[in-house]
Amino acid sequence: MAKNFKLDLTHRPRRLRRFASRRSLVEETVLRTADLIAPLFVIDGKGKPEEIGSMPGVFRLTIPDLVKECRELHQLGVPAVALFPKLDPKLKDEVGSRALDPGTLVLRAVRAVKAAVPELSVITDVALDPYTSHGHDGVLNAAKDNVDNDRTVGILCEMAVLQAEAGVDFVAPSDMMDGRVGAIRKALDAAGFTDTAILAYSAKYNSAYYGPFRDAVGSAQAAGTRLLSKATYQMNPANRREAIEEVLLDVSEGADIVMVKPAGLCLDIIREVRNATNRPVAAYQISGEYAQIHAAARLGWLDLAKCRRESLLAIKRAGADMILTYFAKDMAKALKG
Ligand code: PBG
Repeated sequence: MAKNFKLDLTHRPRRLRRFASRRSLVEETVLRTADLIAPLFVIDGKGKPEEIGSMPGVFRLTIPDLVKECRELHQLGVPAVALFPKLDPKLKDEVGSRALDPGTLVLRAVRAVKAAVPELSVITDVALDPYTSHGHDGVLNAAKDNVDNDRTVGILCEMAVLQAEAGVDFVAPSDMMDGRVGAIRKALDAAGFTDTAILAYSAKYNSAYYGPFRDAVGSAQAAGTRLLSKATYQMNPANRREAIEEVLLDVSEGADIVMVKPAGLCLDIIREVRNATNRPVAAYQISGEYAQIHAAARLGWLDLAKCRRESLLAIKRAGADMILTYFAKDMAKALKG
């Protein structure tokens, strides 16, 4: 009879799930505030924080507000921030000249943050997309049908040196040009910045989930579309082995940390990269991943706090040592209890 049905089982995995105390003893992955990096958007001027429509709770901040936010993040125990500038469209041009202006927004932001909160690590993107009128990460070739790899790398090297001079802890090439990590390492060393580290966006996929970020930095507006194709430099989401090739190249060129991006869509890649190198591995939970969870939560379809935690835990379980996430501050608060 079903009522008296008994199994003669040696193994009952549920035993270890019976009480919270047992569950905590066998918990394999622990998310820590010290694993989190907060991406932040900065704008010029004296205005109020501007919320990004497709990223609820994420704001473009003026430098004074950015400094305040960095202080709070530091107090919560978040070890690092990644800064992204949104430029006035009038300042953008074909070759992204403003990227090499020593007074450009992001450099002023870095100086202000490092002066106010020196213990906080500051990361800046090395790529031209916030600066170009077409929204690409580099300069175009003569035919204007592709991004010119080597000319772009030359500009990125100058950009990285300016960022190092401003005091960043990490430069983060997010452009996916060939050979840029090695060239940037050489340029930094030649300028005396042997202590400035490289966080390389090594396996960066050509993802449709970058849409909200492109709203945030205005590169969508500049390009006239949020779906600008970066397929000639970012990786095809269909590819896995290629990610390992990219990672190993970046490691051989001197990357201190390698990154996989997006994160939640690439848990398999994170694991493979983890197994392929002993370098620290970062993962970027991108704008679209953040937007998805928020949108579903707004509709009452998902629980925001629980999905936030689970999505980050999954990324860490996959093998990431650190996670760039727009949830950094809220997660840090939640972890504090
Ligand atoms: C651009 C850059 C992108 C992101 C970080 N740096 C977008 C892109 O490649 O178009 C995406 C971040 C996100 O979606 O949260 N160099």
